[in-house]
Amino acid sequence: MKLSTEKKFARRMDGVPRSFIREILKVAISPNIISFAGGLPNKDFFPLEELQACAIKLMSGSDRNILQYANTEGYLPLREKIADRYLQKGLSVKPNNILITNGSQQGLDLLGKIFINEGDGVLMEEPGYLGAIQAFSIFKPQFMTVPLQKNGIDIELFKTKVANSNPKFAYLIPNFQNPSGISYEESVRKEISDFCRDKSLFLVEDDPYGDIRFKGQAKHSFYHYLPEQTIMLGTFSKTVVPAFRMGWIVAPDDVMEKLVIAKQAADLHTDYFTQRLVHQYLSDYNIDEHIAKIQTTYGKQANAMLDAIGKHFPEGVTHTIPEGGMFLWVTLPEGQEALTAFDMAIKENVAFVPGNPFYVDKTNVNTFRLNFSCSNEAEIEEGIRRLGNVLKRLK
Ligand SMILES: Cc1ncc(COP(=O)(O)O)c(C=O)c1O
Repeated sequence: MKLSTEKKFARRMDGVPRSFIREILKVAISPNIISFAGGLPNKDFFPLEELQACAIKLMSGSDRNILQYANTEGYLPLREKIADRYLQKGLSVKPNNILITNGSQQGLDLLGKIFINEGDGVLMEEPGYLGAIQAFSIFKPQFMTVPLQKNGIDIELFKTKVANSNPKFAYLIPNFQNPSGISYEESVRKEISDFCRDKSLFLVEDDPYGDIRFKGQAKHSFYHYLPEQTIMLGTFSKTVVPAFRMGWIVAPDDVMEKLVIAKQAADLHTDYFTQRLVHQYLSDYNIDEHIAKIQTTYGKQANAMLDAIGKHFPEGVTHTIPEGGMFLWVTLPEGQEALTAFDMAIKENVAFVPGNPFYVDKTNVNTFRLNFSCSNEAEIEEGIRRLGNVLKRLK
């Protein structure tokens, strides 16, 4: 007899969706499809040979500890390297305040575990990163959303929601946000930090894309203005490789204490050998030179997409202009639906991600995300031309 599992599952799983993007990617894998749907870094930049050399170096030594259990916080020399990189950006972070995680996605789960009781307020950007929506949803928060504008989050609404609803934390992606590509202007970063000072909330700053700036001036982190209330999430997924799942959290001492307990309960520690491998890579090679190549190529791809949009999209369709990262965000005229456009586009062998999963409480939206990091300039021109034809036919 097959066990009926329906009544056995914990309530926390109720209504938590599967990743919509992973479902869409199943549709978009046919070789004829030009896909702007994925959120993947460009594999041409994975430093395969360099990592191979590092792995051989580590494995051909006699140090068997590289294959041993390790401490929860992470390999100290790797945390020191991460702290050094923050220092290059003018941020003073102690290695003891860095916890190595299984991708920054695990950081989101751990933050959910240590902070969110059912019904607690969590402030999110709208549109928001769907991996964070999914990770936090398991802990049943009360999401409060604040729309993104051209220059960052809507400050007045942010202030009102914080003042009225006292959220536990605000989850923000100030650099080249996923999904919108929007960045916060310096004045917005400062004003948010000034407003939050001495208020009872943390700013959780997720920054997987900050290093991949191809235009404009670098801006300050919230940590620059408000270190004691900022928790930073980082990752090597977009600058080295995503397969290693190598991320980190920077948090104040008392938060770190709880995070370490939650991480111990989850997995004891992040894969130690891979931590050593990334550390070796950072020691033996110049990651800044590597990142510069990624910046140049993504910049060209973004420009190709913006040029093609200018040529092929109908009037009334608007879009963001990213200064870095991997995405831009399109808004159709009021009343048009991105899901309808998606169904039509798939028939023309072009894919994107309709905006729906990036909202916590909206359906049938008129927005969608385009990824430019995984297609070459010719594919971008052709894909956007096809998409433009679809949008011209859309009612
Ligand atoms: C905003 C944001 N946060 C976190 C992640 C997860 O990254 P990681 O590979 O480090 O888990 C992503 C991945 O796309 C992301 O876009």
